[in-house]
Amino acid sequence: MKPPRKLHIKSYGCQMNVYDAQRMVDTLAGEGFVESASVDDADLVILNTCHIREKASEKVYSELGRLRVMKEEAARQGRRMNIAVAGCVAQAEGGEIINRAPVVDVVVGPQSYHHLPELLARAEKDGRALETEFPAEDKFSFLPPPKPDVIRARGISSFVTIQEGCDKFCTFCVVPYTRGAEVSRPVSKIVDDVRRLADHGVREITLIGQNVNAYHGEGPDGRTWSLGVLLRHLAEIPGIIRLRYSTSHPRDVDEALIEAHRDVPAVMPFVHLPVQSGSDRILSAMNRKHTANDYRRAVDRFRAASQDIAFSSDFIVGFPGETEEDFQATLALVTQIGYAGAYSFKYSPRPGTPAAEMQEMVSAEVMDERLARLQELIDSQQSAFNKAAIGTTVGVLFERAARNPGQIVGRTAYLQPAHVMAPETIIGQVLPVKIESLERYSLLGELASSLPVVPAGSGAQPAINAHETRMGA
Ligand code: 5AD
Ligand code: SF4
Repeated sequence: MKPPRKLHIKSYGCQMNVYDAQRMVDTLAGEGFVESASVDDADLVILNTCHIREKASEKVYSELGRLRVMKEEAARQGRRMNIAVAGCVAQAEGGEIINRAPVVDVVVGPQSYHHLPELLARAEKDGRALETEFPAEDKFSFLPPPKPDVIRARGISSFVTIQEGCDKFCTFCVVPYTRGAEVSRPVSKIVDDVRRLADHGVREITLIGQNVNAYHGEGPDGRTWSLGVLLRHLAEIPGIIRLRYSTSHPRDVDEALIEAHRDVPAVMPFVHLPVQSGSDRILSAMNRKHTANDYRRAVDRFRAASQDIAFSSDFIVGFPGETEEDFQATLALVTQIGYAGAYSFKYSPRPGTPAAEMQEMVSAEVMDERLARLQELIDSQQSAFNKAAIGTTVGVLFERAARNPGQIVGRTAYLQPAHVMAPETIIGQVLPVKIESLERYSLLGELASSLPVVPAGSGAQPAINAHETRMGA
């Protein structure tokens, strides 16, 4: 038997890239590859890239510079190290990567990575291979499911892609170009995936898509199902305790989704609902297809259905033409909504998008200053939200042993990490925890099995890393 080949994969950007990376590992397992944490002795290195902002794509070229040195070292030792660039930079700049970075053997777009085995074979034969078409076939039909031991090793929380691509064409965004038109997977395929995951220990599913609440998949009854209907159905699958979804668009919040929050306890009361700006003038220039008041109304509908609900969002500061008055409208919206956390970014022109052609650029200094003001406001809301958890008893889904011996870490309904001293047997269960303190973003508490769990929200609020990348919507 041939020894396994080592695959090192590095993902940038959004949750869908994390998910895609796992599916690439599953695909290449059939070719004798095993995933490896170390890059030096890898036979294949995949950079699964992000194109959403300039900084994200610049990282790829600097990483390729480092990999060139390693590849040369491998060659000196008589080994071949293949280097593949996948993800949205591959899709948007595939030809340029091939020209600019001779170190790259394979370039593969996000809709074609099920072809990785053939592309690698082609690269070994012809030197290099590139595929950035949107193939007619659906990659999901070709991706092998993960093996039971792989599912277990990945833990109790899993992503499942239910929808991909976007038809909204916000003027700043590359997603409609890199991920393509909006496509929803059929319900039966999603149910198969979730059942398999649940059978092998997964307890929490996050349904992902660039515009996840635009989901409109074919149901087993031949009708089109929306996200709310799908959530209700998935909650019935034995073993599934928690359901989440990301990322939503305010315009696609429909009654079925609101009702799922009202009626289905497994649907977590934490919604990522990007707004981008609080100014109608800027929202219109962004082609967001909603006003600030439409957004407020969507938030009110969620809140009316579920009192526990908390929100996070995405903001862009310094979109072309943004005045101090527009920015004030954003601050006012944040103050009014009261977020559990949010991600905020400086506008970055993306080649090929309509906004990149817009003239009135906001200066770098003004952008920096606005970003700092916005982040200060969001941080204060986030910190108040987290502090409110202290003294309450909340349900925590336990995930794994923590770094500190004897401690187990899990997450609250709002994705706050929560640590308790407990045996590992609690992993995979939701148990009530009396929260005693907050250390940076982490809650510390003790198991309170004799106390009733207060409904998910009840004052305890989320800690999220406000600077991590989110996808879409
Ligand atoms: N510049 C800055 N931020 C952007 N985002 C998307 N495109 C850009 C851009 N060109 C942000 C949006 C989106 C999140 C995933 O990334 O806030 O919701
Ligand atoms: Fe689509 Fe979201 Fe990008 Fe707008 S920001 S184009 S809704 S992915």
